[in-house]
Amino acid sequence: MNNKYFASTLLEWYSLHKRDLPWRNTKDPYIIWLSEIILQQTRVAQGLPYFEKFIQNYPKVEDLAVAPADEVMRLWQGLGYYSRARNLHYCAKEVVSIYGGRFPDSYHGLLRLRGVGSYTAAAIASFAFDQAVAVVDGNVFRVLARYFGISTDIASSKGKMEFEAIANQNISKDHPAEYNQAIMEFGSLQCTPKNPDCTHCPLKANCFAFKEGMVEQLPVKINK
Ligand code: ADE
Repeated sequence: MNNKYFASTLLEWYSLHKRDLPWRNTKDPYIIWLSEIILQQTRVAQGLPYFEKFIQNYPKVEDLAVAPADEVMRLWQGLGYYSRARNLHYCAKEVVSIYGGRFPDSYHGLLRLRGVGSYTAAAIASFAFDQAVAVVDGNVFRVLARYFGISTDIASSKGKMEFEAIANQNISKDHPAEYNQAIMEFGSLQCTPKNPDCTHCPLKANCFAFKEGMVEQLPVKINK
């Protein structure tokens, strides 16, 4: 049971079970960035039509940058968290005016953009530029907490650092983009918050939570 086993099992599971989603068939950082901003706090089924609408109206970052603000807000209507739309528009202008229309190609460069935090920077750096930076979202917390038996509070800063370190230790260096997609997809389809499908889980033989009967107890989130 080593890091390679965890990553390669997830990659194999992903090749069999992944959903065909439009932002997974591209290396274009603009398309990846747009999809990740839309999918923050939003389910795939809800975000998908908004993604299609934005790509149709603004196929390039330059198109979004010059769009009127009221038009962008109108297209966003119904998705909620409207500061996301304002940041989206601001960021597109920033990419055009400061970076000549090209997204920064490193995790730290991406972090400088408006509305781009550690999750989104890792997603773009890995999906678009194949850098081995692990994404850590709710799905990733759950898969790691259960498999490795980590009971640190995921809402604490100590927990965030611990999970980020474990995530980065276990990422596939050969296939970082696919690995990141795989662990998120695994959390969203297989290792679900309620009633996870442990019977058919390819990781169960080495899963701490499964072996100890703690699947329902992990991850730990202490609401303050
Ligand atoms: N939710 C956030 N990012 C996602 C992605 N790249 N694929 C599927 N669901 C997601």
